[in-house]
Formats: sequence, C-alpha cells, structure tokens
Amino acid sequence: MPQRFVRLIIASLSIGLTGCHEDRTTVAFGDAKRGIALIERNGCGTCHIIPGVEGADGLVGPPLTMMARRIYIAGVARNTPQNMTVWLQNPQAVVPGNAMPNMNLTQQDARDVTAYLYTLR
Ligand code: HEC
Repeated sequence: MPQRFVRLIIASLSIGLTGCHEDRTTVAFGDAKRGIALIERNGCGTCHIIPGVEGADGLVGPPLTMMARRIYIAGVARNTPQNMTVWLQNPQAVVPGNAMPNMNLTQQDARDVTAYLYTLR
C-alpha cells in the first residue's frame, strides 16, 4: 500500500510539473483517438452522456462532460490520470456495488480512454 501511494504521488508530481502543457501530457499518457474508438466499441454511451461520441446519451451513470475539470472520480478518488485508469479497469474495486461493470479494459486501453476523457474540459 505505501508503495502504491508513493507511485500516485510521483504520478501527480510529474503531471504538476508540466501543468501548463496538459494537452501534451495527455497525449503522452495515451492515444485519445484510440480511446474514443474503445468508448464506442465498449458501449460506454449506453450509460453515459459523452461529448464527441455519437449516440452516447445514457443516463445510468453521470455525464462525462468536462471530465478533465472534475476534482473527484465517483466522489472518492482524486481525478488524476493514474486514478482514472484504476477506475476504468475495475470500478468495483474503487466503489463496491456501484452500477458500473468491469469492462475488461487492458492497462493500455484504460490509458487511451483516459486520454480521450481528458480532452473533455
Ligand atoms: C452499465 C452502465 C455503465 C457502463 C456501461 C459504463 N459506466 Fe461508467 N459509470 C456508471 C455509473 C453508475 C457510474 C457512477 C459510479 C459511482 O459514482 O459510484 C459511473 C462512473 C464513471 C466515471 C466517473 C464519473 C464521475 O463523475 O466521477 C467515469 C469516468 C466513467 N464511468 C467512465 C466510463 C467509461 C469510459 C465506460 C466505458 C468503458 C463506462 N464508464 C461504462 C455506469 C456505467
């Protein structure tokens, strides 16, 4: 657990250092184009309103509008790229019993989806 914490701090620090070039950080983190394709393929839009994704008008989960500007993910985890990939890969581990299923995303998938979500500001 402490090691994981240290990694989170390092992740936030490296993002903090490049704070005024967030777009570049996002691009380095994952491939937003692949991310949007994964969002379409996995049907995230059946549960979420997602700007830029056709037909994504679901009302099961919260709208993902301005996701890059939110402070928390699901009200419990700080909204960092690192935490977002953790959430996307296993939402049940973060908030047990919530309605978002495990979508079986790989680490790379989660990074690419995160890159797209962080274009929403
Ligand atoms: C079956 C419905 C469902 C599907 C499919 C689904 N989600 Fe969710 N999602 C939810 C629910 C419900 C929550 C709220 C969880 C909570 O707050 O405890 C949520 C929360 C989120 C959040 C946090 C939003 C916030 O405001 O903090 C993100 C980001 C997210 N989902 C992204 C995705 C992505 C990307 C996909 C596709 C890979 C996806 N979801 C698929 C239901 C779904």
